[in-house]
Amino acid sequence: MEAENSLVLVALDDEKVAGYSYSLIIGTSNLEDRAKYGCIHDLFITETHRRKGLGDKMVSEIVKWFRLNDIHRVELDILAQNQVASSFWKKQGFADFKHTLYRLL
Ligand SMILES: CC(C)(COP(=O)(O)OP(=O)(O)OC[C@H]1O[C@@H](n2cnc3c(N)ncnc32)[C@H](O)[C@@H]1OP(=O)(O)O)[C@@H](O)C(=O)NCCC(=O)NCCS
Repeated sequence: MEAENSLVLVALDDEKVAGYSYSLIIGTSNLEDRAKYGCIHDLFITETHRRKGLGDKMVSEIVKWFRLNDIHRVELDILAQNQVASSFWKKQGFADFKHTLYRLL
């Protein structure tokens, strides 16, 4: 949480946690500078606080932090069946980039 290349945000409603996010910068060594990109690892808003613009506010703060750190590309993963997340991220300007396939052995 205290690492320079990560950002943890917590949204509070009075003293109660209404949501949190965890973002990080990947590829921070000098050698990898050209490959540096941002990753939003977690974003969660508690059920009673959803659909009130809190997720949107959280993303704005995360994007501000990435820009301050000279990051110009952001990636994140969502579960294929998570329609709400898909609709949320598309509204935030994200586009499909890769699909992960799996098979049980
Ligand atoms: C996805 C999530 C973070 C959205 O947070 P939120 O605070 O409810 O989002 P906002 O209020 O900022 O919504 C912005 C837009 O997202 C989309 N959206 C949000 N909830 C939606 C829903 N239930 N159905 C369809 N679209 C939805 C809409 O486009 C919405 O805009 P609108 O209200 O003008 O239609 C929240 O639903 C959540 O925590 N879900 C569980 C965890 C998760 O799936 N996280 C994402 C994967 S990392």
